[in-house]
Amino acid sequence: KPKVDSCQMASPQSPVILTQDELKKIAAYKAVEFVESGMVLGLGTGSTACHAVARIGELLQQGKLKNIVGIPTSKKTHEQAVSVGIPLSDLDNYPVLDLAIDGADEVDPYLNLVKGRGGSLLREKMVEGACKKFVVIVDETKLVKHLGGSGLAMPVEIVPFCWKFTLERLRMMFVDAGCVAKLRRFSENGEPFVTDNGNYIIDLYFEKDIGDLKVASDEILRLAGVVEHGMFLDMATTLIVAGELGVTVKNK
Ligand code: 5RP
Repeated sequence: KPKVDSCQMASPQSPVILTQDELKKIAAYKAVEFVESGMVLGLGTGSTACHAVARIGELLQQGKLKNIVGIPTSKKTHEQAVSVGIPLSDLDNYPVLDLAIDGADEVDPYLNLVKGRGGSLLREKMVEGACKKFVVIVDETKLVKHLGGSGLAMPVEIVPFCWKFTLERLRMMFVDAGCVAKLRRFSENGEPFVTDNGNYIIDLYFEKDIGDLKVASDEILRLAGVVEHGMFLDMATTLIVAGELGVTVKNK
């Protein structure tokens, strides 16, 4: 069982109504408390992680953090990190990172995650897999009992070559779970969404439980045409959840 350490910000007697973005920011700021000068940091992607990147930049500018090296998980995060003054490098130069901070789309009670609804799952998995500590930051809407059970997408990054073939193979793989598979497209022009790595994303939606996650993960990865999927199993070491009643830190 994960250890829980909670710090109350509000109580049922004095409720504070916060927006989802404010909750994301609270979780992100809490995670940045784990950052120490001299660390090599994995910088996550998304609307939650961007608060952490902004905060790290702010602390660097104030001189409260020094000698930080950031390893961004997407081109977007790279741009943001440059704009807030975080010195950057990559996994080739730093194959072992001290800490990564990133958001997630779903988190189960064992700290398994679904990531990649923002499309950066491959780089996120590479960077976060190289970290000694991986701190996940979410607002409480991301908590689920079972991965794939929120009715939202489970992303799979695939090569563009014959994508319809790969989509159909993925759908058939989970036919018993009532899987619907869709190519991710830009809503504006209907063109396929292209990842930072030049690949496509298939979003899988499940009507039923997909069963053993490790088995599902291995099966997806065995399919030629698949590059990576958005299940992050047994990777997170710490979970920070911000909700209306406070922020909770769980360590694995
Ligand atoms: C991007 C991701 C994001 O971390 C995930 O989608 C959560 O995003 P947000 O913080 O915007 O809710 O995996 O690939």
